[in-house]
Amino acid sequence: MIFKKKEKWKTLDDVLRGSLKMLDRGARNFTHPFHWPALATCGGDRVNLRTVILRDFLKSDRILICHSDFRAPKVSQIQNNPAASWLFYHPKEKIQLRISGNVTLHTHDSLAEKQWDSTHIISRINYRTTYPPGTPIQEPASGLLDSILDKSSELLHSQAGRENFAVIVCRFNHMDWLILRATGHMRAQFTWDGNKLKASWVVP
Ligand SMILES: Cc1cc2nc3c(=O)[nH]c(=O)nc-3n(C[C@H](O)[C@H](O)[C@H](O)COP(=O)(O)O)c2cc1C
Repeated sequence: MIFKKKEKWKTLDDVLRGSLKMLDRGARNFTHPFHWPALATCGGDRVNLRTVILRDFLKSDRILICHSDFRAPKVSQIQNNPAASWLFYHPKEKIQLRISGNVTLHTHDSLAEKQWDSTHIISRINYRTTYPPGTPIQEPASGLLDSILDKSSELLHSQAGRENFAVIVCRFNHMDWLILRATGHMRAQFTWDGNKLKASWVVP
């Protein structure tokens, strides 16, 4: 008997729902490929791209969240230009998502507090380099004081990096979905104007 694989992506609605589900899984599960997107920001005359961890996805508001050191270059880039793009790729599903929108920064509000509370104590050490990320140094080094690297004492001071902690919150209004298939690639685009959605299949 021949089993024909059921078509998963028959409608634009299938694509949208499936994409949002993958973002949701990516935010919750560190083994999911969508947990490690690339985030692009504009700085001067350059586009700047880096890997980040997707920390949260608020589906009803179309919001993607990641964390950063407030002193990092990406933060001043966002302060100058809030436009940002995210790139996700799932190698097994062969699905690429390109998402763009505007970013707001949160440091001292309830959202930032909630995100800080959700961080693992061990990752809080990332916000404690003596000098800002990107500062030139003479030799390869973590930028952390030796006393901080003694993690046993660190656990007692886990609030210490809080002042350098920032939350990058991106409300997106455009999503480009692409799936690679031997039988022909497929691509779709979704654009929101407020909550009004325009969706279309496009040539891959
Ligand atoms: C797997 C991986 C995950 C990363 N996650 C983050 C992150 O969530 N937030 C962050 O600020 N930097 C993260 N980084 C470091 C950034 O890629 C980047 O090097 C750093 O943030 C400095 O970027 P900037 O100079 O553009 O601000 C990650 C790097 C890797 C390799």
